[in-house]
Amino acid sequence: MTDKPRVWVSRPTFPGVIARLEPHFEVTVEDTERKLGPSELAARLARQDAVIVGLKDRIGAAEVGAAERLRIVANLAVGYDNIDVDAMSAAGIAVSNTADVLNESVADYAWALLLGAARRMTAAERWLRAGHWHATEFKAWLGSDVRGRTLGILGMGRIGQAIAHRAVGFGMPVIYHNRSPLPEAVERACHARHVDKAQLLGESDFLVLALPLTPRTRHAVGAPELALMKPTALLINIARGGIVDDAALAAALRDRRLAGAALDVFEGEPKLHPALLTLDNVVLSPHIASATTETRRAMTSVAVDNVLALFGHGPHAGRPPN
Ligand code: DGY
Repeated sequence: MTDKPRVWVSRPTFPGVIARLEPHFEVTVEDTERKLGPSELAARLARQDAVIVGLKDRIGAAEVGAAERLRIVANLAVGYDNIDVDAMSAAGIAVSNTADVLNESVADYAWALLLGAARRMTAAERWLRAGHWHATEFKAWLGSDVRGRTLGILGMGRIGQAIAHRAVGFGMPVIYHNRSPLPEAVERACHARHVDKAQLLGESDFLVLALPLTPRTRHAVGAPELALMKPTALLINIARGGIVDDAALAAALRDRRLAGAALDVFEGEPKLHPALLTLDNVVLSPHIASATTETRRAMTSVAVDNVLALFGHGPHAGRPPN
């Protein structure tokens, strides 16, 4: 038996990074990516002083009910809508996220989706794989240029700003909407102009969603908002499912009231709205915007730093969400 405090890591991650915990903690790493049910999760948490979890782990009052020793839930994500932060505060448990280290890879991925949708890459690849090269005609597979088109960003936090920076190279004017405009110096650095939400929806040729999921942002883009968008516009969601009403989006895409979409996140994922799977004008990916080796390792490192810091073993490298 050891009297070291215990850390549980809910998924296999980067062993070399997790090993930094070992001098101070008894570490258990779940050896499967399987999603644990609420009672399994509660049983795991009950014995721990700290846990490192991810988006598949939904942690609320019930899951920490028996976790008398638990001092921190370190989330392996910048978003923390999988954690009931109020319930954790009430139980005296700290919550941390992995802000900043994923901004650049998520911004890169937003552009991959934007360009992939603009140029119909994934649909064209499906066509090619089905053996259709020679049937391609001069005017088949026409996409749209991005240069000179307006990029709209809903949610201009650090990821939104990283997306905006990249627009300079593509010669795209950038407009954005936040509850409050950014300081002028930040706007200038991003070459971005604050507009109201209706204007953002009406003027964007490419609208990227980069805001957190909260009760206030749930269905921030639903049927009324989609109706304000240009029929030629493309919607890109790298933020969270639930911000978009997927049923309303699927209907708009089917009726060509919206030209296309590129989605990395879905309402109710891993289940997708079935209509999305049947449409050719949508690019789909399985919530992988931050999935690069460098970024996922850095996210793990921030979570480890947060646990170490809370127990007095090092500088606090990540920022708690509140
Ligand atoms: C995040 O960090 O919130 C991402 O969605 C996880 O990859």
